[in-house]
Amino acid sequence: MVTPAFSSMMKGAGGKQKVALVGTGSRGTSLYGKFLLEEYGDMVEFVGLCDINPGRVKYAQDLLGVNCNTYTDFDKMLDKEDIDMLMVTTVDSTHDEFIIKGLDKNINVVTEKPMTTDEKKCQAIIDAQRRSKGKLIMAFNYRYGQVFTKLKDMIAQKEVGDLVSVDLNWYLNTYHGADYFRRWHGLREKGGTLLLHKSAHHFDLLNWFIGSDPLEVHAYGALEKYGKNNSFRGDNCRSCDFTDQCEFYWDITKKERYMKMYVENEKYDGYERDNCLYREEIDIFDKMVVQIKYANNVQVSYSLTTYSPFEGFRIAFNGKDGRLETYEGIPWRVAGAEEDQSKIHDKEMDQSSHTREKTKYHEIVSQRNFEDYKRIEFPYVRSGHWGGDKLMFDEIFRGKNSFDLNHAANVRDGSMAVLIGIAARISIDEGRAVKIADLTDLIPKTNKWG
Ligand SMILES: NC(=O)c1ccc[n+]([C@@H]2O[C@H](COP(=O)([O-])OP(=O)(O)OC[C@H]3O[C@@H](n4cnc5c(N)ncnc54)[C@H](O)[C@@H]3O)[C@@H](O)[C@H]2O)c1
Repeated sequence: MVTPAFSSMMKGAGGKQKVALVGTGSRGTSLYGKFLLEEYGDMVEFVGLCDINPGRVKYAQDLLGVNCNTYTDFDKMLDKEDIDMLMVTTVDSTHDEFIIKGLDKNINVVTEKPMTTDEKKCQAIIDAQRRSKGKLIMAFNYRYGQVFTKLKDMIAQKEVGDLVSVDLNWYLNTYHGADYFRRWHGLREKGGTLLLHKSAHHFDLLNWFIGSDPLEVHAYGALEKYGKNNSFRGDNCRSCDFTDQCEFYWDITKKERYMKMYVENEKYDGYERDNCLYREEIDIFDKMVVQIKYANNVQVSYSLTTYSPFEGFRIAFNGKDGRLETYEGIPWRVAGAEEDQSKIHDKEMDQSSHTREKTKYHEIVSQRNFEDYKRIEFPYVRSGHWGGDKLMFDEIFRGKNSFDLNHAANVRDGSMAVLIGIAARISIDEGRAVKIADLTDLIPKTNKWG
């Protein structure tokens, strides 16, 4: 057993951590609400729930069955409640406000990714961490995903020698990818573009696999499918005149939870969960490629697409002594049952089981130079983000982690992941390479943990 990174935060002798949640939407109520209470109820007690939408915070309270106070004013919650740990699951561009206020009260804060959406907010969070006695925990659940942990372990064991380059291509399908364009993620001012909202996961994985900090980023991107790129559009799917013609028509009325969480509370803030993905106001990219150079000289080639017929990824690690690779979701390669593309993202978010699917496995192939390849069939776990949500919570709330792989992520990790996305966004907008050191006062290190 490794010394867990967050053990100093644990309450001794059966005491429970007093937790408060800001942002009682989908992620907040599922992982940080129901799942937390069901699996870690012996370690935590809720002392406050806050959301800017009064209907949604009330719905969350009923859903969780907790009798703590609810708030629409965050400052009031922070002022009135005795909080050990604040959990931040709001819209991305608002994370900084809650992180900084929490740290300035010297309480521990766990935040969802991306840590923030621009370099000024990133610097402000770094400064707040420096002056606080509290600790910021970055909830990078992908790191804890079982297949990613396996890959990290193989890299750490020098399976293919020192890394020299990594190729990562991520494919969001026409359900999951499209869904980002239906709501706030489609606006830069809210989600910072998918280079922050989505790719922060992937950039963090890369930083963690490579074990070094990014130095320089060059990127291209465009919006070619969603947003203004269509001849028709409506207000939302429920009221649209084009449901017969629209290949992206989505009937929210079939999802009872979404009706209660979002539609019934639209009257308070106008947040439409099934907004039109052809809205003219959408100003993010729907295709992106990013080149990253690391301080230890590793080079990365990354791409993200948002309207693939299938959901999945390919990753390959080129080492001085060979190559290690795997993939997921490629229909003609998948070992096991066919997937229903419309259900894959629901499975990812599902917290009801984190166990392996018996008929499927991850195919990991490693080949050392001048030798034959080795094929590993690694147990396939897909729900709860490759099982990562549970392993991450085990470390955060129980201080348990049986790997020695630096899973626990802090403010520096959160910063380095978003700084790649911010640099990529600037690079696309301004047509130039961007140096990470020019964005905040963090100086990229050759060895991330050195
Ligand atoms: N790690 C993961 O795998 C993962 C998965 C899903 C979502 N997330 C993250 O979780 C966060 C929430 O995503 P979601 O899908 O639940 O979105 P959501 O829209 O369902 O929920 C966001 C909530 O924040 C509230 N909110 C917005 N501004 C606020 C403010 N100023 N004060 C208080 N409340 C405010 C909204 O009313 C809403 O209830 C995002 O940061 C997202 O990136 C992470």
